[in-house]
Amino acid sequence: MVNMAVKIGSLTLQNPIMPGSGCCSDEIDRVYDVTQLGAFVPKSIEIVPREGNPVPRVAETPQGLLNSIGLPTYGLPYFLQHQLPVYLRFGIPIVVSVSAGTAEEFASICRQVSLPGVAGIEINISCPNKEEGGRAFAMGADSTLRVVKAIREATSKPIWAKLTPNTGDIAEVAVAAEAGGADALVVANTFLGMAIDTETFRPKLGNITGGLSGPAIKPIVVRMVYQCAQAVRIPIIASGGIMNAADVVEYMAAGASAAQVGTANFLDPAVMPKILSDLRKFCQDRGFGNVTELIGRTLRLEPATTLVA
Ligand SMILES: Cc1cc2nc3c(=O)[nH]c(=O)nc-3n(C[C@H](O)[C@H](O)[C@H](O)COP(=O)(O)O)c2cc1C
Repeated sequence: MVNMAVKIGSLTLQNPIMPGSGCCSDEIDRVYDVTQLGAFVPKSIEIVPREGNPVPRVAETPQGLLNSIGLPTYGLPYFLQHQLPVYLRFGIPIVVSVSAGTAEEFASICRQVSLPGVAGIEINISCPNKEEGGRAFAMGADSTLRVVKAIREATSKPIWAKLTPNTGDIAEVAVAAEAGGADALVVANTFLGMAIDTETFRPKLGNITGGLSGPAIKPIVVRMVYQCAQAVRIPIIASGGIMNAADVVEYMAAGASAAQVGTANFLDPAVMPKILSDLRKFCQDRGFGNVTELIGRTLRLEPATTLVA
């Protein structure tokens, strides 16, 4: 028997597998028993309803998916009344993902979702903000520190800061999020990308640019998890191109304590239970009694200075 439990700050999850925000619907319990998952992260919500970006909102690329969904949301009151109760009935830790345009709005939405039953709050600081000319908060260490601090003052719930890979030095941003009071980091959101239809010369996305996810980004994000794991003491949750259990093992070896599965859910809605049972088998076959034995294995083998070839 392998003990699959992992600790993310003060939260103990029965296993490290959960969906990435925006990639798994509240109807997933019709496909499989969701109580198997370690946690559930719903789609990011904002205070005020918004429609999202013009269509087309997704475009396939080799080994990846470009999306420019644009965070459509029914808004906070609708979420609290109609959606949160559905998620809470799942009976596993629900980590509410929130997004906002200013630090003040972030603090406000976090305060309002700090309700009994909510296990934690994932702050999507990878989204454009109104205060810094449309840059994502997590593109810079200073703006990250400022927004995480404001949120920390607004809630005592665990805060998971979801970083953007679209920054020069993600380890520096990770340190700022930790200093601001984040309990864990999610590394990372999608990479800014673009695709053009060569028949029409038009961008394939209605919003022109979008976020790249899927297997194409995994080696870059493994590097980022590895770098962040050396820079901070708080746990890291990996997000980027996880398609199978081997990908989870790779991320945990790089220093992640848990893993979010995103794009893979669109290819196979039942992928997460499969990943979980294969991960358990991986540990069993190698005689690991605890899945946590995977965490940071490569960190312990390799000196920190071997980042660049
Ligand atoms: C269609 C789609 C919608 C997404 N919506 C959100 C969202 O609402 N909030 C968020 O923080 N991340 C969102 N993401 C990012 C994912 O949660 C995940 O971090 C990213 O896709 C990388 O993981 P993956 O390669 O496994 O998909 C979305 C990704 C996709 C593909």
